Amino acid sequence: MNFLAIETSCDETAVAVFTDELKILANVVASQTDLHSRFGGVVPEIAARAHLQRLLPTLEEALRQAKLSLRDIGCIAVLNTPGLVGALLVVVSAAKMLALALDVPLIAANHIEAHIYAARLGAGRDIFPCVGLVVSGGHTSLFHCRTALRFDLLGATTDDAAGEAFDKVASILGLGFPGGPAVERDAQAGNSRAYAFPRSFLHQDRLDFSFSGLKTAVLYAVHGVGVAHGPPPPPGQQRADLAASFQEAVVDVLVGKSRQALQRTGIKRLAVGGGVAANRHLRQALENMVKQENAELFIPPLSLCTDNAAMAAVAIEKRRHGEWASLDLDAIPTYR
Ligand code: KG4
Ligand code: ZN
Repeated sequence: MNFLAIETSCDETAVAVFTDELKILANVVASQTDLHSRFGGVVPEIAARAHLQRLLPTLEEALRQAKLSLRDIGCIAVLNTPGLVGALLVVVSAAKMLALALDVPLIAANHIEAHIYAARLGAGRDIFPCVGLVVSGGHTSLFHCRTALRFDLLGATTDDAAGEAFDKVASILGLGFPGGPAVERDAQAGNSRAYAFPRSFLHQDRLDFSFSGLKTAVLYAVHGVGVAHGPPPPPGQQRADLAASFQEAVVDVLVGKSRQALQRTGIKRLAVGGGVAANRHLRQALENMVKQENAELFIPPLSLCTDNAAMAAVAIEKRRHGEWASLDLDAIPTYR
C-alpha cells in the first residue's frame, strides 16, 4: 500500500511517497530559503503563500520519482501540528481534499514525533523505547519515547530553540540565513576555546535548556557589553573563533543533557532528529558520548534531519493502531 505524505509546517514544501513496509519511493523538498533570506528569517505570510504555489508541482515531482499516479495512493498522511498556522492550513486543506477526492483514508501525525521517526527510518530497524532529542528551529526537547507514538516530555527549552540560536548568532555575525550551516562552515577555521560562552543548566539536575543568554553573550562579545547593534565582525579569525566557541557551547549542552537523560531513564538508545542534528560537530560529539555510556545512537542522514515528508512515515504506526483522522481535522500550531 502506498502512502502520499505532505508537510509544510514552516518554510519547506515537502511531499514523500512510501510503502506501508517503510520503503521510501520519493522524498521531495522544495526549499523557500530564496524567499526568506533577505529578511533574515522565515516570514509566515510569505511561507504560506509559497506553499500554495509550490505544493502541486512538488506533489507531481514526487509521484514522477515514485513512478506512480494518484490512483496508486491508498492513504494520505499529513503533519498537522506544530508549526506556523498559515503554513499548516495549506497542508491540512490539501490533505483533506486529496483524501476526499481519492476516497482514501487520512492520517494526521505530529511533526516532533516525525522528527524522531526519521531516526527510525535511518536505522532501518526498531529503535523504541529510546531517549529522543529533537533539535530544530522551533524546538529543543528531550523525550522518553516509549513507542513511536507515546512520548513523555523530560525537558525542553525555556526560551530559544537551538536552531533559532544558530540563526540569530549567524545574523549577529553577518553570516546570513539559514544560520546553522553558515555558522558550522565558519566555525571550521575557528578556535572553540577562544571565548568562554555560558552553558546554561549544564551542571544542574534538570533536563531543560536555555540558549538566549548564550546568544546575548555572543552579541556582547561582538559589540561590547550593553550594546545591541553595530556592524558584524568582518570575515577572518575573530569571526571564526566566535562561531566555533558558540557552536561548542551549544554542543556541550545538547550532549550533556542527552547524557543526563540516558542516565536518568536507564535507556541505552538515543535518537536525534531536527535540523540541528545535521551539524557534524554535534553528531561526532554525540557519537563519542554514547560510546562512553555504552549506548546506541540513532541519527538520520542529513536529508532526513531537516524538514521533509518521509518522516511522516510515523503514520504507518498510526494506521496499525487504527488512528484515522477525519475531514474536520485542524491545523494546530502549538505542540500538545
Ligand atoms: O527541523 P528543521 O528543518 O525545521 C524546524 O522544524 O524548525 O530545522 C531548521 C533549523 C534551523 O534553525 C537551521 O539553522 C538549523 O536547523 N540547522 C542547523 C544545521 N542545519 C540546519 N544548525 C546547526 N548546524 C547545521 N548544520
Ligand atoms: Zn522540523
